Amino acid sequence: MTTPKVAGPQIAIIGAGIFVRTQYIPRLRELADCVTIKTIWSRTEESARAAAEFAHDFAPTIESKWGEEGLNDIIRDDSITGVAVVLAGQVQVDMSLRMLRAGKHVIQEKPAAGSISEAEAALSQYNSVCNNSIYPIWAVAENYRFEPAFLESRKLIKDVGDMMNVQVIVEGSMNSSNPYFSSTWRRNFYGGFILDMGVHFIAGLRMIVGCEIKTVSSIARHVDMTLPPPDNLSALFQLENGVAGVFVMAVSSTSPKIFWRVDGTKGTLQVERGNESGRHGYLVSFYPADGECQKKFYPFSGVTEELKSFFHDISQSVNKDVAGHKPDCRLSYIEGARDIAVLEAMLESSAKHGTQTYVKGI
Ligand SMILES: *[C@@H]1O[C@H](CO)[C@@H](O)[C@H](O)[C@H]1NC(C)=O
Ligand SMILES: *[C@@H]1O[C@H](CO)[C@@H](O)[C@H](O)[C@H]1NC(C)=O
Ligand SMILES: *[C@@H]1O[C@H](CO)[C@@H](O)[C@H](O)[C@H]1NC(C)=O
Ligand SMILES: *[C@@H]1O[C@H](CO)[C@@H](O)[C@H](O)[C@H]1NC(C)=O
Repeated sequence: MTTPKVAGPQIAIIGAGIFVRTQYIPRLRELADCVTIKTIWSRTEESARAAAEFAHDFAPTIESKWGEEGLNDIIRDDSITGVAVVLAGQVQVDMSLRMLRAGKHVIQEKPAAGSISEAEAALSQYNSVCNNSIYPIWAVAENYRFEPAFLESRKLIKDVGDMMNVQVIVEGSMNSSNPYFSSTWRRNFYGGFILDMGVHFIAGLRMIVGCEIKTVSSIARHVDMTLPPPDNLSALFQLENGVAGVFVMAVSSTSPKIFWRVDGTKGTLQVERGNESGRHGYLVSFYPADGECQKKFYPFSGVTEELKSFFHDISQSVNKDVAGHKPDCRLSYIEGARDIAVLEAMLESSAKHGTQTYVKGI
Protein backbone atom coordinates (compact mmCIF):
# COMPACT_ATOMS: atom_id res chain seq x y z
CA MET A 1 0.00 0.00 0.00
CA THR A 2 1.37 3.42 -0.88
CA THR A 3 1.17 6.20 1.64
CA PRO A 4 -1.02 8.99 0.27
CA LYS A 5 0.88 12.13 -0.61
CA VAL A 6 0.48 14.92 1.92
CA ALA A 7 1.25 18.36 0.52
CA GLY A 8 1.48 21.41 2.74
CA PRO A 9 -0.65 21.81 5.86
CA GLN A 10 -3.61 19.49 6.41
CA ILE A 11 -6.90 21.29 6.78
CA ALA A 12 -10.56 20.68 7.48
CA ILE A 13 -13.41 22.47 5.73
CA ILE A 14 -16.28 23.23 8.09
CA GLY A 15 -19.35 23.67 5.94
CA ALA A 16 -20.58 22.01 2.78
CA GLY A 17 -22.90 24.57 1.17
CA ILE A 18 -22.98 26.06 -2.33
CA PHE A 19 -19.93 28.25 -1.74
CA VAL A 20 -17.82 25.30 -0.60
CA ARG A 21 -18.83 23.23 -3.63
CA THR A 22 -18.52 25.99 -6.24
CA GLN A 23 -15.58 28.03 -4.89
CA TYR A 24 -13.54 26.37 -2.14
CA ILE A 25 -13.28 22.92 -3.71
CA PRO A 26 -12.30 24.13 -7.22
CA ARG A 27 -9.75 26.60 -5.78
CA LEU A 28 -8.30 23.94 -3.44
CA ARG A 29 -8.00 21.61 -6.44
CA GLU A 30 -5.77 24.26 -8.09
CA LEU A 31 -3.74 24.47 -4.88
CA ALA A 32 -3.46 20.71 -4.34
CA ASP A 33 0.32 20.89 -4.21
CA CYS A 34 0.39 23.34 -1.30
CA VAL A 35 -2.42 22.03 0.93
CA THR A 36 -4.18 18.74 1.74
CA ILE A 37 -7.88 18.62 2.60
CA LYS A 38 -8.09 15.98 5.27
CA THR A 39 -11.70 16.39 6.34
CA ILE A 40 -14.92 18.02 5.31
CA TRP A 41 -17.60 18.59 7.93
CA SER A 42 -21.29 19.36 7.75
CA ARG A 43 -24.16 19.27 10.22
CA THR A 44 -25.59 16.24 8.42
CA GLU A 45 -23.94 13.05 7.23
CA GLU A 46 -25.64 13.30 3.86
CA SER A 47 -24.28 16.72 2.96
CA ALA A 48 -20.79 15.97 4.36
CA ARG A 49 -20.59 12.85 2.18
CA ALA A 50 -21.96 14.63 -0.87
CA ALA A 51 -19.40 17.48 -0.58
CA ALA A 52 -16.52 15.02 -0.08
CA GLU A 53 -17.43 13.43 -3.42
CA PHE A 54 -16.62 16.72 -5.18
CA ALA A 55 -13.06 16.62 -3.85
CA HIS A 56 -12.29 12.91 -4.27
CA ASP A 57 -10.44 13.38 -7.57
CA PHE A 58 -7.65 15.43 -5.97
CA ALA A 59 -8.07 14.49 -2.28
CA PRO A 60 -8.58 10.70 -2.49
CA THR A 61 -8.24 10.22 1.28
CA ILE A 62 -10.68 12.97 2.27
CA GLU A 63 -12.89 11.98 5.22
CA SER A 64 -16.39 13.25 5.83
CA LYS A 65 -17.44 14.12 9.39
CA TRP A 66 -20.71 15.41 10.71
CA GLY A 67 -22.48 16.61 13.84
CA GLU A 68 -20.98 17.35 17.24
CA GLU A 69 -18.94 14.16 17.27
CA GLY A 70 -17.37 15.08 13.93
CA LEU A 71 -16.35 18.50 15.26
CA ASN A 72 -14.75 16.92 18.31
CA ASP A 73 -12.78 14.58 16.05
CA ILE A 74 -11.44 17.58 14.13
CA ILE A 75 -10.53 19.39 17.34
CA ARG A 76 -8.69 16.33 18.69
CA ASP A 77 -6.82 15.66 15.43
CA ASP A 78 -3.45 17.36 15.85
CA SER A 79 -2.51 16.70 12.22
CA ILE A 80 -5.21 19.23 11.21
CA THR A 81 -3.49 22.58 11.70
CA GLY A 82 -5.96 24.82 9.84
CA VAL A 83 -9.69 25.00 9.22
CA ALA A 84 -11.85 26.93 6.78
CA VAL A 85 -15.14 27.98 8.39
CA VAL A 86 -17.77 28.46 5.68
CA LEU A 87 -21.13 28.54 7.44
CA ALA A 88 -24.16 30.78 7.84
CA GLY A 89 -23.21 34.34 8.89
CA GLN A 90 -24.94 33.92 12.27
CA VAL A 91 -22.82 30.97 13.47
CA GLN A 92 -19.39 31.51 11.90
CA VAL A 93 -17.83 33.56 14.69
CA ASP A 94 -18.70 31.04 17.42
CA MET A 95 -17.33 28.21 15.32
CA SER A 96 -14.13 30.13 14.51
CA LEU A 97 -13.54 30.89 18.19
CA ARG A 98 -14.13 27.26 19.12
CA MET A 99 -11.47 26.18 16.59
CA LEU A 100 -9.04 28.95 17.63
CA ARG A 101 -9.32 27.84 21.26
CA ALA A 102 -8.39 24.35 20.08
CA GLY A 103 -5.22 25.88 18.60
CA LYS A 104 -6.28 25.65 14.93
CA HIS A 105 -5.48 28.40 12.44
CA VAL A 106 -8.78 29.64 11.00
CA ILE A 107 -9.83 31.22 7.74
CA GLN A 108 -13.44 32.29 8.11
CA GLU A 109 -15.65 33.28 5.21
CA LYS A 110 -16.90 36.90 5.22
CA PRO A 111 -18.69 38.73 6.74
CA ALA A 112 -16.34 38.87 9.74
CA ALA A 113 -19.35 39.26 12.06
CA GLY A 114 -23.01 40.25 12.03
CA SER A 115 -22.28 43.54 13.80
CA ILE A 116 -19.46 45.54 15.26
CA SER A 117 -20.39 44.61 18.80
CA GLU A 118 -20.11 40.94 17.86
CA ALA A 119 -16.75 41.60 16.17
CA GLU A 120 -15.37 43.44 19.21
CA ALA A 121 -16.48 40.73 21.63
CA ALA A 122 -14.95 38.14 19.30
CA LEU A 123 -11.65 40.01 19.11
CA SER A 124 -11.39 40.24 22.86
CA GLN A 125 -11.99 36.48 23.16
CA TYR A 126 -9.43 35.86 20.44
CA ASN A 127 -6.87 37.98 22.25
CA SER A 128 -7.45 35.98 25.41
CA VAL A 129 -6.68 32.77 23.48
CA CYS A 130 -3.39 34.19 22.19
CA ASN A 131 -0.34 34.18 24.41
CA ASN A 132 3.38 33.69 23.98
CA SER A 133 3.11 29.98 23.36
CA ILE A 134 0.03 29.91 21.13
CA TYR A 135 -0.91 32.39 18.49
CA PRO A 136 -3.40 30.93 16.02
CA ILE A 137 -4.06 32.95 12.84
CA TRP A 138 -7.60 34.26 12.40
CA ALA A 139 -8.15 35.24 8.80
CA VAL A 140 -11.29 36.49 7.08
CA ALA A 141 -11.80 35.50 3.45
CA GLU A 142 -13.00 38.56 1.58
CA ASN A 143 -10.68 38.22 -1.45
CA TYR A 144 -10.81 41.86 -2.70
CA ARG A 145 -7.60 42.73 -0.88
CA PHE A 146 -5.94 40.02 -2.99
CA GLU A 147 -7.44 40.84 -6.39
CA PRO A 148 -4.65 41.94 -8.76
CA ALA A 149 -6.85 44.79 -10.09
CA PHE A 150 -7.03 46.37 -6.62
CA LEU A 151 -3.35 45.84 -5.91
CA GLU A 152 -2.55 47.59 -9.21
CA SER A 153 -5.01 50.42 -8.47
CA ARG A 154 -3.38 51.00 -5.11
CA LYS A 155 -0.16 51.74 -7.02
CA LEU A 156 -1.85 53.87 -9.70
CA ILE A 157 -3.67 56.05 -7.16
CA LYS A 158 -0.43 57.98 -6.65
CA ASP A 159 -0.67 59.18 -10.26
CA VAL A 160 -4.09 60.85 -9.90
CA GLY A 161 -2.48 63.71 -7.96
CA ASP A 162 -4.64 65.24 -5.23
CA MET A 163 -7.85 63.26 -4.93
CA MET A 164 -10.96 65.36 -5.57
CA ASN A 165 -13.75 62.83 -5.14
CA VAL A 166 -14.49 59.15 -5.07
CA GLN A 167 -17.48 57.27 -6.47
CA VAL A 168 -18.41 53.69 -5.69
CA ILE A 169 -21.41 52.57 -7.70
CA VAL A 170 -22.76 49.07 -7.17
CA GLU A 171 -25.77 48.00 -9.20
CA GLY A 172 -25.87 44.33 -8.30
CA SER A 173 -27.57 41.34 -9.83
CA MET A 174 -28.98 39.51 -6.84
CA ASN A 175 -32.25 38.31 -8.38
CA SER A 176 -34.03 34.96 -8.36
CA SER A 177 -31.56 33.56 -10.94
CA ASN A 178 -28.72 33.88 -8.42
CA PRO A 179 -27.93 30.72 -6.39
CA TYR A 180 -27.70 32.76 -3.16
CA PHE A 181 -31.01 34.55 -3.67
CA SER A 182 -32.99 32.10 -1.53
CA SER A 183 -30.24 31.47 1.04
CA THR A 184 -32.16 31.46 4.34
CA TRP A 185 -29.49 32.90 6.58
CA ARG A 186 -29.04 36.02 4.46
CA ARG A 187 -32.77 36.69 4.75
CA ASN A 188 -32.53 36.77 8.54
CA PHE A 189 -29.32 38.77 8.72
CA TYR A 190 -29.10 42.37 9.97
CA GLY A 191 -28.34 44.53 6.93
CA GLY A 192 -29.42 41.81 4.48
CA PHE A 193 -27.43 41.59 1.25
CA ILE A 194 -26.19 45.18 1.75
CA LEU A 195 -24.01 43.98 4.62
CA ASP A 196 -23.18 40.52 3.29
CA MET A 197 -22.17 41.71 -0.21
CA GLY A 198 -21.27 45.27 0.72
CA VAL A 199 -18.13 44.29 2.67
CA HIS A 200 -16.48 43.47 -0.66
CA PHE A 201 -17.15 46.90 -2.15
CA ILE A 202 -15.98 48.69 1.00
CA ALA A 203 -12.85 46.52 1.04
CA GLY A 204 -12.24 47.54 -2.60
CA LEU A 205 -12.71 51.21 -1.74
CA ARG A 206 -10.36 51.12 1.28
CA MET A 207 -7.84 49.24 -0.82
CA ILE A 208 -7.84 51.75 -3.70
CA VAL A 209 -7.71 54.96 -1.65
CA GLY A 210 -5.38 53.55 1.01
CA CYS A 211 -7.18 55.53 3.68
CA GLU A 212 -9.93 54.87 6.25
CA ILE A 213 -13.49 56.18 6.04
CA LYS A 214 -14.21 58.58 8.86
CA THR A 215 -17.84 59.64 8.60
CA VAL A 216 -20.93 58.64 6.62
CA SER A 217 -24.39 59.99 6.04
CA SER A 218 -26.79 57.66 4.34
CA ILE A 219 -30.31 56.69 3.41
CA ALA A 220 -31.21 53.02 2.98
CA ARG A 221 -34.54 51.83 1.58
CA HIS A 222 -36.51 48.70 0.97
CA VAL A 223 -37.93 48.79 -2.54
CA ASP A 224 -37.82 45.26 -3.95
CA MET A 225 -40.01 43.18 -1.61
CA THR A 226 -38.59 39.90 -2.93
CA LEU A 227 -35.30 40.87 -1.23
CA PRO A 228 -34.61 41.19 2.51
CA PRO A 229 -34.35 44.83 3.72
CA PRO A 230 -32.64 47.09 2.94
CA ASP A 231 -31.97 46.69 -0.78
CA ASN A 232 -30.97 50.24 -1.75
CA LEU A 233 -28.47 52.45 0.00
CA SER A 234 -27.03 55.85 -0.92
CA ALA A 235 -24.28 57.34 1.20
CA LEU A 236 -22.03 60.36 1.32
CA PHE A 237 -18.71 59.60 3.04
CA GLN A 238 -15.59 61.44 4.07
CA LEU A 239 -12.16 59.85 4.28
CA GLU A 240 -9.66 60.58 7.03
CA ASN A 241 -7.65 62.62 4.51
CA GLY A 242 -10.66 64.90 3.99
CA VAL A 243 -11.66 63.63 0.53
CA ALA A 244 -15.40 63.10 0.10
CA GLY A 245 -17.20 60.52 -1.99
CA VAL A 246 -20.41 58.65 -2.63
CA PHE A 247 -21.29 55.00 -2.16
CA VAL A 248 -24.45 53.85 -3.93
CA MET A 249 -25.59 50.27 -3.76
CA ALA A 250 -28.63 48.54 -5.23
CA VAL A 251 -28.72 44.82 -4.43
CA SER A 252 -30.64 43.96 -7.57
CA SER A 253 -30.58 46.10 -10.66
CA THR A 254 -32.03 45.37 -14.09
CA SER A 255 -28.81 46.60 -15.67
CA PRO A 256 -25.90 45.57 -13.42
CA LYS A 257 -22.79 47.75 -13.27
CA ILE A 258 -20.09 47.97 -10.61
CA PHE A 259 -17.27 50.51 -10.51
CA TRP A 260 -14.96 52.55 -8.30
CA ARG A 261 -13.75 55.88 -9.69
CA VAL A 262 -11.36 58.47 -8.27
CA ASP A 263 -10.99 61.92 -9.80
CA GLY A 264 -7.72 63.70 -9.10
CA THR A 265 -5.85 66.80 -10.18
CA LYS A 266 -3.59 64.77 -12.51
CA GLY A 267 -5.90 62.04 -13.71
CA THR A 268 -8.84 59.72 -13.11
CA LEU A 269 -8.63 56.11 -12.05
CA GLN A 270 -11.48 53.67 -12.63
CA VAL A 271 -11.91 50.00 -11.73
CA GLU A 272 -14.89 48.34 -13.35
CA ARG A 273 -16.27 44.84 -13.09
CA GLY A 274 -16.41 43.17 -16.49
CA ASN A 275 -15.28 40.30 -18.65
CA GLU A 276 -12.73 39.73 -21.38
CA SER A 277 -12.23 36.63 -23.53
CA GLY A 278 -14.88 34.84 -21.48
CA ARG A 279 -13.15 35.53 -18.15
CA HIS A 280 -14.68 37.68 -15.43
CA GLY A 281 -12.61 40.27 -13.64
CA TYR A 282 -11.94 44.01 -13.52
CA LEU A 283 -10.92 46.53 -16.11
CA VAL A 284 -8.56 49.11 -14.62
CA SER A 285 -8.43 52.38 -16.58
CA PHE A 286 -6.21 55.34 -15.88
CA TYR A 287 -6.98 58.60 -17.67
CA PRO A 288 -4.00 60.96 -17.27
CA ALA A 289 -4.58 64.72 -17.56
CA ASP A 290 -2.34 64.66 -20.62
CA GLY A 291 -1.81 61.54 -22.68
CA GLU A 292 -3.54 58.36 -23.66
CA CYS A 293 -5.86 56.37 -21.43
CA GLN A 294 -4.19 53.19 -20.15
CA LYS A 295 -6.48 50.17 -19.76
CA LYS A 296 -5.74 46.70 -18.49
CA PHE A 297 -8.02 43.79 -17.68
CA TYR A 298 -7.31 41.64 -14.61
CA PRO A 299 -9.23 38.35 -14.36
CA PHE A 300 -10.42 37.31 -10.87
CA SER A 301 -7.84 35.44 -8.84
CA GLY A 302 -8.36 36.88 -5.35
CA VAL A 303 -9.90 33.76 -3.80
CA THR A 304 -6.97 31.59 -4.91
CA GLU A 305 -4.34 34.17 -3.90
CA GLU A 306 -5.93 34.62 -0.49
CA LEU A 307 -6.08 30.88 0.26
CA LYS A 308 -2.51 30.47 -0.95
CA SER A 309 -1.41 33.21 1.40
CA PHE A 310 -3.24 31.61 4.36
CA PHE A 311 -1.64 28.20 3.72
CA HIS A 312 1.76 29.85 3.40
CA ASP A 313 1.22 31.61 6.75
CA ILE A 314 0.27 28.28 8.39
CA SER A 315 3.37 26.58 6.98
CA GLN A 316 5.56 29.40 8.29
CA SER A 317 3.96 29.36 11.73
CA VAL A 318 4.56 25.62 12.21
CA ASN A 319 8.10 25.88 10.83
CA LYS A 320 10.24 26.49 13.90
CA ASP A 321 13.14 27.66 11.70
CA VAL A 322 11.20 30.71 10.60
CA ALA A 323 11.22 33.09 13.53
CA GLY A 324 8.82 35.99 13.70
CA HIS A 325 6.94 35.40 10.44
CA LYS A 326 4.02 37.84 10.40
CA PRO A 327 0.81 36.60 8.76
CA ASP A 328 -0.39 38.71 5.81
CA CYS A 329 -2.31 41.58 7.40
CA ARG A 330 -4.70 41.78 4.41
CA LEU A 331 -6.24 38.57 5.75
CA SER A 332 -6.62 39.70 9.35
CA TYR A 333 -9.92 39.58 11.19
CA ILE A 334 -9.52 43.28 11.99
CA GLU A 335 -9.60 44.24 8.30
CA GLY A 336 -12.85 42.31 7.84
CA ALA A 337 -14.30 43.96 10.94
CA ARG A 338 -13.39 47.42 9.61
CA ASP A 339 -15.44 46.82 6.47
CA ILE A 340 -18.41 45.96 8.67
CA ALA A 341 -17.89 49.08 10.78
CA VAL A 342 -18.35 51.25 7.67
CA LEU A 343 -21.57 49.52 6.57
CA GLU A 344 -22.93 49.50 10.10
CA ALA A 345 -22.34 53.26 10.36
CA MET A 346 -24.24 53.67 7.07
CA LEU A 347 -27.20 51.64 8.35
CA GLU A 348 -27.11 53.55 11.64
CA SER A 349 -27.05 56.89 9.83
CA SER A 350 -30.03 55.83 7.75
CA ALA A 351 -31.96 54.87 10.87
CA LYS A 352 -31.36 58.50 12.01
CA HIS A 353 -32.62 59.88 8.66
CA GLY A 354 -29.18 60.47 7.22
CA THR A 355 -27.49 62.07 10.23
CA GLN A 356 -23.71 62.22 9.88
CA THR A 357 -22.28 59.23 11.76
CA TYR A 358 -18.71 58.34 12.76
CA VAL A 359 -17.35 54.98 11.66
CA LYS A 360 -16.28 53.08 14.73
CA GLY A 361 -12.49 52.63 14.85
CA ILE A 362 -11.27 49.05 15.39
C1 LIG B 1 -1.53 29.73 26.39
O1 LIG B 1 -2.88 29.44 26.07
C2 LIG B 1 -3.16 28.05 26.02
C3 LIG B 1 -4.60 27.88 25.53
O2 LIG B 1 -5.45 28.86 26.05
C4 LIG B 1 -2.91 27.42 27.37
O3 LIG B 1 -3.16 26.05 27.32
C5 LIG B 1 -1.45 27.67 27.76
O4 LIG B 1 -1.24 27.19 29.07
C6 LIG B 1 -1.14 29.17 27.72
N1 LIG B 1 0.30 29.35 27.93
C7 LIG B 1 0.79 30.35 28.64
C8 LIG B 1 2.29 30.44 28.70
O5 LIG B 1 0.07 31.17 29.21
C1 LIG C 1 -31.17 38.32 -13.10
O1 LIG C 1 -30.08 39.13 -13.49
C2 LIG C 1 -29.34 38.64 -14.60
C3 LIG C 1 -28.16 39.59 -14.79
O2 LIG C 1 -28.58 40.90 -14.90
C4 LIG C 1 -30.24 38.57 -15.82
O3 LIG C 1 -29.53 38.05 -16.91
C5 LIG C 1 -31.45 37.68 -15.49
O4 LIG C 1 -32.34 37.72 -16.57
C6 LIG C 1 -32.16 38.19 -14.24
N1 LIG C 1 -33.20 37.23 -13.86
C7 LIG C 1 -34.42 37.59 -13.46
C8 LIG C 1 -35.33 36.48 -13.05
O5 LIG C 1 -34.76 38.78 -13.39
C1 LIG D 1 -33.28 50.69 -5.98
O1 LIG D 1 -32.39 50.12 -6.94
C2 LIG D 1 -33.03 49.59 -8.10
C3 LIG D 1 -31.95 49.01 -8.96
O2 LIG D 1 -31.02 50.00 -9.37
C4 LIG D 1 -33.81 50.67 -8.84
O3 LIG D 1 -34.52 50.05 -9.89
C5 LIG D 1 -34.76 51.32 -7.86
O4 LIG D 1 -35.38 52.40 -8.51
C6 LIG D 1 -34.01 51.83 -6.65
N1 LIG D 1 -34.95 52.47 -5.77
C7 LIG D 1 -34.70 53.59 -5.11
C8 LIG D 1 -35.80 54.13 -4.30
O5 LIG D 1 -33.62 54.15 -5.16
C1 LIG E 1 -19.20 40.89 -21.02
O1 LIG E 1 -18.92 42.27 -21.20
C2 LIG E 1 -19.76 42.90 -22.16
C3 LIG E 1 -19.32 44.35 -22.27
O2 LIG E 1 -17.93 44.46 -22.37
C4 LIG E 1 -21.21 42.81 -21.73
O3 LIG E 1 -22.03 43.36 -22.73
C5 LIG E 1 -21.59 41.36 -21.50
O4 LIG E 1 -22.90 41.29 -20.96
C6 LIG E 1 -20.64 40.71 -20.53
N1 LIG E 1 -20.95 39.29 -20.41
C7 LIG E 1 -21.13 38.69 -19.23
C8 LIG E 1 -21.41 37.23 -19.28
O5 LIG E 1 -21.09 39.31 -18.18
